[in-house]
Amino acid sequence: MRILIASPIYPGTIAELEKNHDVICAFNAPVEELKAVIPDRQILVFRSGVDINAEVMASAPGLKMLIRAGSGLDNIDMNYVHENKLELHRIELPGAKAVSELAFALMLGLARKLRQADSSLRQGHWIKHEIKGYLLTGKTLGIVGAGNIGSLAGRMGAAWGMDVIGCVEEPSDARAAELEAQGIKLAAFHDVLARADFLSLHVPLNKSTRNLIDADALGRMKPGAFLINLARGGVVDEQALYEALTSGHLAGAGMDVHEHEGEGKISPLAGLDNVLLTPHIGAGTVDTQREIGAKIMEIIEAHQTAD
Ligand code: MLT
Repeated sequence: MRILIASPIYPGTIAELEKNHDVICAFNAPVEELKAVIPDRQILVFRSGVDINAEVMASAPGLKMLIRAGSGLDNIDMNYVHENKLELHRIELPGAKAVSELAFALMLGLARKLRQADSSLRQGHWIKHEIKGYLLTGKTLGIVGAGNIGSLAGRMGAAWGMDVIGCVEEPSDARAAELEAQGIKLAAFHDVLARADFLSLHVPLNKSTRNLIDADALGRMKPGAFLINLARGGVVDEQALYEALTSGHLAGAGMDVHEHEGEGKISPLAGLDNVLLTPHIGAGTVDTQREIGAKIMEIIEAHQTAD
């Protein structure tokens, strides 16, 4: 098969694919570059950070299959995919464990003020009695979007001794029972906002979630709460968040995803001490990428056998 890999994936998978396939890598290439390399490709493998728009896909008349090595679909033109009946595979589950663990890393880092503790000690300051942290145990964890990733983060919270509440787009008695069995109580969005000490976002970016966490939503959050975003940058109004953090309404924020991502982009929150920023590394564990890589191999080999 002729394969274009448009994002960095597990290197061992690329080496394996190269044994039996014609593979081109163009990691994080801009649209014009993708259009130049895609014309004879049959399979496109991609993650976030590239724009898989209609023009890119239309440049490859023989394109049969798209493999999203992760879950988000906000960087691909889904109308084009449906209209042209392209086969799309998402590899959603492996990333859930890594994203949930990073949610905890950010919550713990913020609650124990690790950023300040580390940087002051590096400068020779012993601020042992000034660092006043908080426990996660006994606090309320609010999950916005209790799907695959959100409910796993909720389960981890329950195991941690947190009181976990979560909301979903389409609540039902059946969903409430499923979540309850995992230690998560289903609640309305506004209730989750108002009650959470730690609010963790796990919704896809679409028309209904763009700026879901705006000035109004932030204003409804509990004073002194922490916001964690591992969903997509566009879900949070960063300017409104800046104001909620500098006014002291929120105690801190952990942001793995950003309105503007990529080399040279600096978050408006970068000047704030009570914020932890990471460069969209939620799914970025070696274990996760190895697991995703194995799934990519499986999908391509199954497709080849079926052909
Ligand atoms: C995802 O949607 O799975 C994540 O954004 C991971 C990624 O593609 O980097």
